Amino acid sequence: MQELSVNHLLGIKYITEEDIQLIFNTADHFKEVINRPIKKVPSLRDITIANIFFENSTRTKLSFELAQKRLSADVVNFAASSSSVTKGETLIDTVNNILSMKVDMVVMRHSSPGAAVFLSKNVNASIVNAGDGAHEHPTQALLDAYTIRERLGDVAGKKVVIVGDILHSRVALSNIYSLQKLGAEVKVCGPKTLIPRYITELGVQVEPNLRKALEWCDVANMLRVQNERLDISYFPTTREYAMQYGLDKQLLDSLNKEIVVMHPGPINRGVEITSDVADSKQSVILDQVENGVAVRMAVIYLLASKIKQ
Ligand code: CP
Repeated sequence: MQELSVNHLLGIKYITEEDIQLIFNTADHFKEVINRPIKKVPSLRDITIANIFFENSTRTKLSFELAQKRLSADVVNFAASSSSVTKGETLIDTVNNILSMKVDMVVMRHSSPGAAVFLSKNVNASIVNAGDGAHEHPTQALLDAYTIRERLGDVAGKKVVIVGDILHSRVALSNIYSLQKLGAEVKVCGPKTLIPRYITELGVQVEPNLRKALEWCDVANMLRVQNERLDISYFPTTREYAMQYGLDKQLLDSLNKEIVVMHPGPINRGVEITSDVADSKQSVILDQVENGVAVRMAVIYLLASKIKQ
């Protein structure tokens, strides 16, 4: 059986193109499973997984939990806000206490970049990064690339523009790594204040003009403006941001081709994209969410196979 080159999924940076293709091929099988009347397989009956979320989440948390339950794993959920973390317990103590209850895998979202890597070096379990600050969100990038592959047949050779708040976005960095590993060309577009200086060192070009970026691309990934991470004012007003970097139906329809519109969610409707774009046939936003379950099933199944050896 083919296996992943890693024991943890900490970021797309640490995995190979072959790993990504293996995850996609495995996800193809699980996508078929979750569309059956009985959406469950007994593969992971002997595995226990803890989902520990130190930051809010809707899609990622639900998607991981559904993926785990559809693989028949035992699942425990931990919300930091209602735990003893609020009494001062450290991350390692918290996780080690959970692991002493015989947990095999930890899926963690944390506000600190590098938290998942830190955990993988200090506790004896397989770690899956469900988003660490502005660093990486590997399963989001995998489900995004999987959705492009599903809609356009392949990721290689496609042109993808990532629009918006690149500076604070873990989705952007993971997408850049995954799309490049799979042979796509990537540009970013957004206010200069929200584009990190190191971006060109990653082989990514900056296109400041949204219309030009859209005319160039096959796929536009419209990122959320992360108001909770904007400690200072990066653009004059939300209205001005929407006028310069928001995608509306008039702009979409004025392009001389059809592009695929993506958004990782949650959407600020009327800011990054208008409702008529979000709900249009060019939008694959809900396909991304559906594919997230199959892709996460694949990641968990492949990592669990390594634990069982
Ligand atoms: N895309 C994403 O990470 O959404 P949540 O924050 O709701 O999990």
